[in-house]
Amino acid sequence: MKNQDTMQDKEQMKSLEDIFEAKIARDEKIEPKDWMPEKYRKTHIRQISQHAHSEIVGMLPEGNWISRAPSLRRKVALLAKVQDEAGHGLYLYSACETLGISREELYDQLHSGKAKYSSIFNYPTLTWADIGAIGWLVDGAAIINQVPLCSTSFGPYARAMVRVCKEESFHQRQGYEIMMTLCNGTQEQKDMAQDALDRWWWPALMMLGPTDDESTHTEQSMKWKLKRKTNDELRQQFIDQTVPQADILGLKVPDEDLQYNTETGHYDFGEIDWEEFWQVVKGHGMCNKERISARKNAWDEGEWVRDAALAYADKQADKEVKEAV
Ligand code: ACO
Repeated sequence: MKNQDTMQDKEQMKSLEDIFEAKIARDEKIEPKDWMPEKYRKTHIRQISQHAHSEIVGMLPEGNWISRAPSLRRKVALLAKVQDEAGHGLYLYSACETLGISREELYDQLHSGKAKYSSIFNYPTLTWADIGAIGWLVDGAAIINQVPLCSTSFGPYARAMVRVCKEESFHQRQGYEIMMTLCNGTQEQKDMAQDALDRWWWPALMMLGPTDDESTHTEQSMKWKLKRKTNDELRQQFIDQTVPQADILGLKVPDEDLQYNTETGHYDFGEIDWEEFWQVVKGHGMCNKERISARKNAWDEGEWVRDAALAYADKQADKEVKEAV
């Protein structure tokens, strides 16, 4: 009897796997209540939560400049952008929760260092030009990475990405416009823009993840259509798109080996310092400690707000029950 049960379980499992694989092959979305392999669920929790963490940690380097933006117009745009990042975090945490993990667990993973967030947000913002460079390069790289995710296989992630990408496009343009203004300004302003490009170029290339042969997850994630392009493909696309934009600004990309290759139709580029990337990922970047401590403080100091919201929700629920009786 036991053997027969095991056989039946195996057959049932096989047919669930077949249905799942067929959906992926037909480019249909996997929804939270659908059966999915445990590894698919786990890797989605990993990637979506890292993405959500990156959005909210990413608010910190720019939030730092809101009160110092050079005009009211710049302040309003930057404020809106930083608020958008909070919203992106919210959609992504919500998408992640549909996979059966709580918001508290997700925050705990961030605060304890168990979950990663993007390496790029561990670099400091030293001048106003850094806000331009972040919009242009970091949000530019984010769009290239995220547009393919609009057709990722997990429904809630794909739908969140559609709105995120529209907003990222505004972020990229506000950054490029800051760079354009600086580059059309005084020599001192142009030097500031060049300095920001010099410091953000290489970290922006690293942000798209390790090379394909070093990437642990790409092969499986491409099969599941979680990732639609590999890290190296995205990096090449970013370079090809961004170098002509630097030319328009009259800025020099800090890579002596950068050269357009007429045979491949792409830019060849120099060696990326992967040692620096892994150091930052492991927590030894310039701002890792500062960023995590700011997030932990926000969590601790926000405790009374969460408690008050819960108490209010309980009172409302009691009231509704009393009124219904
Ligand atoms: N910063 C920190 N860690 C990174 C980075 C990075 N830039 N790139 C890769 N890693 C980590 C991976 O998380 C993985 O570690 P893990 O196994 O502990 O999770 C390890 O390095 C190996 O990398 P990959 O196998 O290539 O990982 P993956 O397939 O997840 O690809 C990528 C990385 C491209 C970032 C992918 O996760 C992705 O597309 N994520 C969604 C987009 C995103 O998170 N963007 C964040 C910044 S955009 C913004 O906030 C504006």
